[in-house]
Amino acid sequence: MTREAGPREEAPRSGSAAACAGPIDLRTWSAERLERVEQALSDWVVADAPAGLGEVMRYAVLDGGKRLRPLLVLAAAEAVRGNGEAALRAACAVELIHAYSLVHDDMPCMDNDSLRRGKPTVHVKYGEAQALLAGDALQALAFELLAPERESVPAPVQAALCRLLARSAGHAGMAGGQAIDLASIGRALTEPQLREMHRRKTGALLQACVMMGAACGAPDAKAQAALADYGAALGLAFQVVDDILDVTADSATLGKTAGKDAAQEKPTYVSVLGLERSAAFAQELLARALAALAATGLRDTRALHALAMMLVNRDN
Ligand code: IPE
Ligand code: IPE
Ligand code: MG
Ligand code: MG
Ligand code: MG
Repeated sequence: MTREAGPREEAPRSGSAAACAGPIDLRTWSAERLERVEQALSDWVVADAPAGLGEVMRYAVLDGGKRLRPLLVLAAAEAVRGNGEAALRAACAVELIHAYSLVHDDMPCMDNDSLRRGKPTVHVKYGEAQALLAGDALQALAFELLAPERESVPAPVQAALCRLLARSAGHAGMAGGQAIDLASIGRALTEPQLREMHRRKTGALLQACVMMGAACGAPDAKAQAALADYGAALGLAFQVVDDILDVTADSATLGKTAGKDAAQEKPTYVSVLGLERSAAFAQELLARALAALAATGLRDTRALHALAMMLVNRDN
């Protein structure tokens, strides 16, 4: 899933003598966490919703995807030594919102895509009405997960997680960015306009992953602000790379249709800056993200460091 490029993975040069030394093995680190995430998603997205809706929801969420968002939530929560149950719930909730956004993004009224995560898109397999409803139901389920009846997650943490996720998914974030995306077809955006669109449609949810992980613990104000900077830089970098891969990768590698952005006249970083400058910008954003991480003063940010490297240097 990754290729070697950009700065080497290494321990954070945080300037804090207390920082943990030595790189982590991201593959092993991720595999251990994803086992829990996959199990929890499978347990929570039950098949018994009426009229086949459960099957549609499970199809949209399970067996696919890189799961970058849950990993970011868990890495941030570990960096602040946060509440483990809250972190697992937050990791799954973000993935449910992401999955819902993909289902709707692929529908004929939006990007009209037929391939997602290497499978037919949800509306192609189950029809548009079920796709719409599965997205709605996944969104609702995400918030249900964040508000367990048991006291295992303190009420103020539940509220903070709901607030962060709602803000990043709604008009100020993903949904707003998607509206700009659709309104921009065939239009030449300036780089600042494009950045604002990407910040909302993709960046906001990725930044929320980091902030939700942080909200599972109690980082000081300096760490919190630096983590927000890390998440913002990484979130934008992620969509810049998505734009690049739409041009440079093939559909089999991506698990989704390559070349769609140009075909649909979507303004992207590649259409505005060209491939080479877009790639350079992604590396610049990665450097910004890593600098912000170093400024957190947190003792062990190795997983966040490794995830940033992987996210920007990925090939799918
Ligand atoms: C794709 O996200 C949609 C964007 C926000 C650009 P991912 O590349 O994380 O998709 P999955 O989850 O791995 O399928
Ligand atoms: C969609 O961006 C971002 C979402 C909020 C789902 P894209 O339309 O570029 O995502 P892909 O390329 O279809 O995954
Ligand atoms: Mg789209
Ligand atoms: Mg799309
Ligand atoms: Mg794309």
